[in-house]
Amino acid sequence: TDLPSYELLKTSFPKNGVGLITLNRPKALNALSSPLFLELNDALKRLDADKSIGAIVLTGSERAFAAGADIKEMKDITFSEAYGGDFIEMWSNMAFQIKKPVISAVNGYALGGGCELAMMADIMYCSKGATFGQPEIKLGVIPGAGGSQRLTKAIGKSKAMELILTGDNFSGTQAEQWGLAAKVFETPEECVNGALTLAEKIASYSRIAVKAGKEVVNKSQELGVREGVEFERRVFHGLFGSKDQKIGMTAFAEKKKPEWSHE
Ligand code: CAA
Repeated sequence: TDLPSYELLKTSFPKNGVGLITLNRPKALNALSSPLFLELNDALKRLDADKSIGAIVLTGSERAFAAGADIKEMKDITFSEAYGGDFIEMWSNMAFQIKKPVISAVNGYALGGGCELAMMADIMYCSKGATFGQPEIKLGVIPGAGGSQRLTKAIGKSKAMELILTGDNFSGTQAEQWGLAAKVFETPEECVNGALTLAEKIASYSRIAVKAGKEVVNKSQELGVREGVEFERRVFHGLFGSKDQKIGMTAFAEKKKPEWSHE
C-alpha cells in the first residue's frame, strides 16, 4: 500500500488489513481546516480503493481528537461564500462515499466538528477522559456537519437538544452509557489498540459481506422498518451470487477455516 505523505495527518498500517489515519495538527488541537479535510478525504478515498485494506481507524492525539472546525478560518466568511461554496459539504465524504468500515478512536477533545467527525464513523470507541460537545451555540451558530441529526438519532431528542442548546460538554464515560460510543476504555492507548483490534477482526472477514453489512445498517437510519427489512433481504439474496458465500458456508460444512476471495 502506497499513500502520499501528508502534512496534517499521519498514516500507517499497524495490523493486517487495517489503515490507520492520525490527525496531526497539534498546534491547533487538530482543528479541522479545509487543507486538513482535503488530505483526510484523499487518504480515505485511497484506503477505500485499496484491495488490501478491510477497515480504517481514524484517531487524533491524546489531547485532542479534533477541537472542531477551524474557527479562525471561518470567522470572516460571508453567507454568500458559505452557501455558494457549499462550505463543509466535503466533510460528508466519509459518511456518504466511503464504503469500508471506519472506526473512530476518540481521546481528548472532540468538540463541534470534531464530535461530528467522530459520529460520522461507523463505530465509535473512546476513552473515559474524552471530552465531547457541540459548543457551536457559544459561537453564535449551530452544528453544521450533521451534529443535530446524528447526535439526536444516537442519544434521543431531549438529551441532544439539551446538549446542543447549552453547548455543555460530556465525557467518554457518558458517550458510552448513552450508546454514542460502542466501547469506552481507561486510557487513550487502550482505546486506539481496541479500535485497531476491532478493525483487524472486521478486515479478516469477506470484504463483500462487510460492505453489504455496512450498507444495510446505514439504510436503517433512513428507511422505515418494513422497507429496511425488504432492502436487507434483497442485499442478502444478492450475496448468494458472491464467491465468499459459497466459500464461507462450504468451509462451515467441512469444518474448515474459510479462505475468503473477497469476491
Ligand atoms: N479552531 C481554530 N483553532 C483552534 C480551535 C478551533 N476549533 N480549537 C483550538 N484552537 C487553537 C487555539 O486557538 C490555540 O491556538 P493558539 O496557540 O495559536 O492560540 C491552540 O489551538 C490551543 O488551544 P487553547 O490554547 O485554547 O487550548 P486550551 O487547552 O486552553 O483549550 C479547548 C482547549 C477547550 C478545546 C479550546 O481550544 C476550545 O474551546 N476550542 C474551540 C472548541 C470549539 O468551539 N469548537 C467548535 C468549533 S465550531 C464547529 O465545529 C462548527 C461545525 O459544526 C462544523
